[in-house]
Amino acid sequence: MCFSEAERGARGTGRGNGAGARAERLPSDLAQLYQCGLQARLGPRPVPTPRSPFPVPRAPRPLPRYSATRVKRYRSPIRFASARAMTDTALVRPHVVEFKNVSKTYGEGERAYTAIKNVNFAIDDRPDHGEFVAILGPSGCGKSTIFRLIAGLSPQHPPSTGQVLVFGKQVGGAGADRGMVFQDYTSFDHLRVIDNIAFGLECRGVPLAERRDQARVWIEKMGLNPGTDAMKFPHELSGGMRQRVAIARTLILKPRIILMDEPFGALDPGTRYAMQDLLVKLWREQQATVFFITHSIEEAVYLGDRVLIMSRAPGTILHELRMEHSTRPARDVQREPAFLEAVFKVRDIIEQLERPA
Ligand SMILES: Nc1ncnc2c1ncn2[C@@H]1O[C@H](COP(=O)(O)OP(=O)(O)OP(=O)(O)O)[C@@H](O)[C@H]1O
Ligand SMILES: [Mg+2]
Repeated sequence: MCFSEAERGARGTGRGNGAGARAERLPSDLAQLYQCGLQARLGPRPVPTPRSPFPVPRAPRPLPRYSATRVKRYRSPIRFASARAMTDTALVRPHVVEFKNVSKTYGEGERAYTAIKNVNFAIDDRPDHGEFVAILGPSGCGKSTIFRLIAGLSPQHPPSTGQVLVFGKQVGGAGADRGMVFQDYTSFDHLRVIDNIAFGLECRGVPLAERRDQARVWIEKMGLNPGTDAMKFPHELSGGMRQRVAIARTLILKPRIILMDEPFGALDPGTRYAMQDLLVKLWREQQATVFFITHSIEEAVYLGDRVLIMSRAPGTILHELRMEHSTRPARDVQREPAFLEAVFKVRDIIEQLERPA
């Protein structure tokens, strides 16, 4: 059975030729990420989960100490979304994601290395809208570490200190409410495009014909050709095509939280604009909360409702900006003087923050 083989792969207990062979071919990150679906097919999960991520609130709760209202606000001509509109929902719903004094130290003793230190932030739940959270920070400051803590992937999960909460509950591991697109175009190398995209549905027990039908729809949505691309293997695709497959494999499952780790870093500017437009369109359809790591200030300013700026290692959140999201095409907006001015302002802030005190 396909699912139990993958499950064994995910748990590292593969037996026999078929299961063992498939287990070896599952990249460990993807095996971890989809483990939740595989477990769901096998029976009750060891840790009970709430029936809905939106428990009916009993009473409004006070804003936590490190909420958006306490974050240093940047005063500039960049138009910010209303803080009130963003924080109102936090009064009645748990935050989508909340970090409370989170630190992560890898290794022990002399080899111990602290990648992130005292990370605090909270993202409101904005139903029927979602939010786009862009994260900017120097290489090695712990951006991927933060993402993997949200996704519940080891060895980043669990944090060394502090709490990572998703919909008000402490993260116990990977879950179907979170999807992740990895930094390195991770795919199942032995699966064709159509089956790569349908993988999560397979884990959920969707029959072959139905999941392939859905995957074909996503192949088309992602601007790939269902006729010529569906039966290709990942090594037969360009980097941009592989990233489209990875995004489709995540979005087909409609997660409430989408983590995208520098997804367009290796694309040429034209393809990058096209992917930014596509992402905004798909995000509007899904109304999820998207966390997006990028090294491009332009990309962060264009895509982000909120931009988190991180310090050098050990990484922490230095600053939070709120932006108004543009509804117009990336290529047009990113050439406009007002947009370029906003980008320079953010660059100035980053330079100021990085300057030694
Ligand atoms: N599994 C691990 N074991 C030990 N150290 C790790 C591990 N994962 C990450 N690190 C270290 O933690 C630090 C932060 O890594 P991380 O991948 O989170 O950075 P990043 O901000 O995503 O960098 P980049 O922008 O280059 O992708 C780095 O110094 C890295 O070497
Ligand atoms: Mg990274």
